[in-house]
Amino acid sequence: MPKGDSAPRTPPELGDMSADEFRRHGHELVEWIARYLDGTERYPVLARVAPGDIAKNLPAQAPERGEPFESILEDVDRVLMPGVTHWNHPGFMAYFGISASAPGVFADFLASALNQQAMLWRTSPVSTELEGVALRWLADLIGLPPSFEGVIYDTASVSTLHALATAREVAVPGVRAHGLSGRADVPRLRVYCSDQTHSSIDKGVMLLGLGHDALRKIPTDERFRMRPDVLREAIAEDRAAGWRPIAVVATIGTTSTTSVDPVAAIADVCESETLWLHVDGAYGGVCGMLPEMREHFVGLERADSFVVNPHKWLFTPFDLSAFYCRRMDTLRQAFSLTPEYLRTPDGARNLSDTGVQLGRRFRSLKLWMILRYFGAEGVRARLREHIRLAKTFADWVDAHPDLERLAPVPFSVVCFRANPRGRSMSAADLDAFNDALMHRINASGDVFLSHTKLRGTFAIRVAIGNLRTGEAQLRRVQELVSLGVGTNNP
Ligand SMILES: Cc1ncc(COP(=O)(O)O)c(C=O)c1O
Repeated sequence: MPKGDSAPRTPPELGDMSADEFRRHGHELVEWIARYLDGTERYPVLARVAPGDIAKNLPAQAPERGEPFESILEDVDRVLMPGVTHWNHPGFMAYFGISASAPGVFADFLASALNQQAMLWRTSPVSTELEGVALRWLADLIGLPPSFEGVIYDTASVSTLHALATAREVAVPGVRAHGLSGRADVPRLRVYCSDQTHSSIDKGVMLLGLGHDALRKIPTDERFRMRPDVLREAIAEDRAAGWRPIAVVATIGTTSTTSVDPVAAIADVCESETLWLHVDGAYGGVCGMLPEMREHFVGLERADSFVVNPHKWLFTPFDLSAFYCRRMDTLRQAFSLTPEYLRTPDGARNLSDTGVQLGRRFRSLKLWMILRYFGAEGVRARLREHIRLAKTFADWVDAHPDLERLAPVPFSVVCFRANPRGRSMSAADLDAFNDALMHRINASGDVFLSHTKLRGTFAIRVAIGNLRTGEAQLRRVQELVSLGVGTNNP
């Protein structure tokens, strides 16, 4: 961190840092962040440390006496920065590309200063009401009808947990009061998703006391989409065997390939079987903003609940997950509980009724600032650019004689592998070759790619979603891939 002109000051005996000192360090910090965001390429994308390296450079005990803020900031540079994996780096194309946009960073800074705790409307009218407004804006942009009410949670995992808890509330009378265990009147419950669905669904059923084997994974077609015909058969088979089906989770943008389940056909099944339909759009959901992508969202209006993560592809600093539900009153029925000390006479809606946590951060501020700063046009332009870059990369893979694309590219992720001509390798050797290739690419420090397995085959993923990613980074990936496929030992 840059040093200020004034001499370092130890903290005052009582109270907070003085306003003067705050101002001085604040300016320095903003300057530092501006330089950081403008030049993340100076760092290797992946931290070059081994497990334990960061912790061993930090004292085991907290200091007895307060230290000047200068020393703390110096240690950020010296000790902490080497342990940072740079998700803001334009070469970060692993998992899902994300970024902390400047308006989002400002919003988090301001939210910390205001320190709003929106458990009740009264404890933060602004956070409570802005959350409703910003979520409505987002819902309208994505095309969700007004029948969906929104709430912000931290992650999609927690959003989905709330969806499944609400499905359980609907399906099992008295579950709130009596739970599940020891009840002869409640058969085993079943939830369905595809074999491509995110592991947060597995965790949800485990946490809700349904047991992991309550989750039945439906096979997918050649484009990695859930097969509604098999879903229907599985439900019939389970009912005949004494299970009680309660919910189906469909995904718009799965984690490995970004495949899109046929939501409308799955909604037909859910309607005829009276099952809760939750749609996981954690990554792909933002593309509802693009008219040319509407085909992927047909039937979404019939879902009971939907999640989209602005912290994935809407340039929002981690964390912010937007959860929408058509039956929020049932969710409230599952979760609202007001102890005497929280009773208020205003009759307003309190956000703590819509979930498991009581206190909550002022997350809506960043969603509001980001939507205002970029505007719907600006967001759409950026999403389209990422999709264009992904298609360009996919075309390059398709044209390359030593590469194979392993999945369609509906959004901004390309799954591929090297399969060099003239070298006959076993399936296991080919997997090992691609694993080594990916590690060699990542060792460059210029880009970071991750992998998945598709029907048992090792696939390298290029995920574009960072605001700063452009042609230059894609060219670098192409260079590194081409170099790697040309050698025996990538
Ligand atoms: C499709 C999908 N759903 C859910 C999640 C979980 O997201 P979170 O980290 O917000 O819990 C992910 C994470 O990548 C995902 O890809």
